[in-house]
Formats: sequence, C-alpha cells, structure tokens
Amino acid sequence: MGAMALSDSPGAPETCVVEMRGVSKRFGEKLAVDTLDLEIPAGSCFGLLGSNGAGKTTALRMIYGVTRPTSGSIHVFGSDVQRDPRGIRARLGVTLQDNVLIEPLNTEENLRVFGRYHLLDESRLSQRIDRCLDLLELRSHARLPVSNLSGGFRRRVAIAMSLMNDPELLILDEPTTGLDPALRLSLWSLVRELQAQGKTVLITTHYMEEAQRLCDRVAIMSGGHKICEDSPRQLIESRLAREVVEIDCPPDREIELLGDYPGLLQRLRSGGRLLVYVDDARPLLQWIRQRDDLEGRSLVVRPSNLEDVFLDATGTALEASP
Ligand SMILES: Nc1ncnc2c1ncn2[C@@H]1O[C@H](COP(=O)(O)OP(=O)(O)OP(=O)(O)O)[C@@H](O)[C@H]1O
Ligand SMILES: [Mg+2]
Repeated sequence: MGAMALSDSPGAPETCVVEMRGVSKRFGEKLAVDTLDLEIPAGSCFGLLGSNGAGKTTALRMIYGVTRPTSGSIHVFGSDVQRDPRGIRARLGVTLQDNVLIEPLNTEENLRVFGRYHLLDESRLSQRIDRCLDLLELRSHARLPVSNLSGGFRRRVAIAMSLMNDPELLILDEPTTGLDPALRLSLWSLVRELQAQGKTVLITTHYMEEAQRLCDRVAIMSGGHKICEDSPRQLIESRLAREVVEIDCPPDREIELLGDYPGLLQRLRSGGRLLVYVDDARPLLQWIRQRDDLEGRSLVVRPSNLEDVFLDATGTALEASP
C-alpha cells in the first residue's frame, strides 16, 4: 500500500499506520536491524517479539524518529518519519524500555511537563492529567516525587506520560516488565479500550502469553531479521501440531523413550526438558508409559502455544522423525 493512499483515508480499516520498507540499522560492525519490512494496520494491536538483542527497541526507536535508519524508508500516518518528525510525534505516544522521568518532580508535574511539550492548553492539560492518573491508577501517588516511587509505579508514570496527548498510535516497549499481576491485567484492558476507540498499539513483550492474548498480529525477530509474522493462532496452527507432551528427559534417554514411535513427531529441547508436538497426545502417552514408569519425571500435556512458536522460530533445534 502506498503512502499517499494512507493519508487519503485515515482510520479506514485497511490502512497502515506504520509502514517500514527494507529498513536496516547499523551500529559500527553490528547490524541491529536487517532489511525489516513491517506494516501495522490501523486499529490493531501488533506485537514485536524476539530474544534479547533481536532489534526490537531499535526498530521502535526508528519508528518514533529518535534513531535514524541506515537505509530503507519508514512512513507513519502516511508521512516520512525523517521529513515530519514533529508532526508525527504529536499523534503518537511512546514508552521506551528505559523510563524517562524528571526525577525531582512529582507524578502530576511530570505529566504536566509532558502535556506542555505537546502544547496542550490549560483546560485540556488538567483534563488529560486527570484521565491519565485514573487510567494508570496513579491518583494516590500524584504528589510523590517520582524518584521515591517503586519500579512498577515509575513504569506506570512513564506509560501515563505516553498517553497525555491522547495518541492515535501507542508504542510500548516491554510495558508490563516489572508490573504486578493486577496492573498487568488493567494494562491489557487499557490496550483493548484504546483499540475500541480505533487507536493502534505497537508493543514488545517477552511474555508470550501476553502477546497471544493481546495481539492481533505478531512478528518474531531474530538477529535483526523478521522470521515470521501472522496472528498468534495462525502461527501456532501453521508451525506446530496441536498438543505438546513436555517431559523431563536427558538427550541420551530420548531414543529409549520415543524409540520408533509410529507417527510424525516434532521435537524441541530446552535443557533437560523434551517437548514433543503431536496432534493427539493420547497414543504417544501410552507409548511412553509402556517404556518408562515415569517415576520421578514431571510430564505435562498441554495445547501448543505462542511460546512454542517462539522457541521453534528463534532457533532451538526442531527435529521431525518419521
Ligand atoms: N546505540 C547503540 N550502539 C551500539 N549498539 C547498539 C545500540 N543500540 C542497540 N545496539 C545493539 O543492537 C542490537 C539490538 O538491540 P535492541 O536494543 O534493539 O534489542 P532488543 O530486541 O530490544 O533486546 P531486548 O529484548 O534485550 O530489549 C544489540 O546487539 C544491541 O547491543
Ligand atoms: Mg529492547
């Protein structure tokens, strides 16, 4: 989809809010992002996943316009990020991995400074401060200096700041790292609420359950590359069998346990844990029980999930056996 079409019909479901074409970023010898293409549909929640150092934060920083790509093009709301950074930033909110807070000021003052940066007038400013304090459940901490807040509350302040300008696109880099379970849940409902208002959310997370629940689409990155992209459900269905048998099994016992099982098995190994993917786990369980009394081994049967896709896609060896 061309950039011109984007600005002609803002908000239409088929439009892309972010469009990256062949984007690379080199830091000296290190290619942090390697010819990345991304299209993020308006109104979606899009997850960027990948191991530590995969290039997620670098990609987000380029979309936000604080890191300049070495090559390739990035359009946000149909405009070139390099040409109109200020215009684009007025319409997006970002919480990067490291919170950027003004330490001597309290929570409310931090929000106020950020609102002024966005040139909100006084009545709008008070209205947005109220709204953002409520959204992140920060009311009781409004008058405390941010330097005295716990890690989770500092994270909440950073997220509240990113919402001050009521952004059309919200970029959240690992927003729920360090948040307690209650706030994680309320952040998920906040994301859904924003989506219901037609806003777009771009999120990174290391929690695959979170990505599976929250994201319409995810892209998995490794070494700066995008390895795969689809809805979580499609990724799971297209890459792996339906069920997983997870069992403690050192590599040298694997043959003994599985032997020449008469069915196709996809296998992954994570340390001493063997994961076997199969459409119906029952015959496999019978097979295993005939060979091993399972004494002292933990065995779990569960549906395949996005974490399995992640392990598979990011390089844990996957073997298929006849
Ligand atoms: N300013 C910089 N100078 C040099 N190298 C950098 C810089 N920023 C990032 N890198 C390198 O680029 C690669 C990608 O880093 P990036 O922060 O984008 O990864 P990430 O996917 O966000 O990882 P994490 O999950 O740990 O946050 C890493 O190898 C990192 O060391
Ligand atoms: Mg990062």
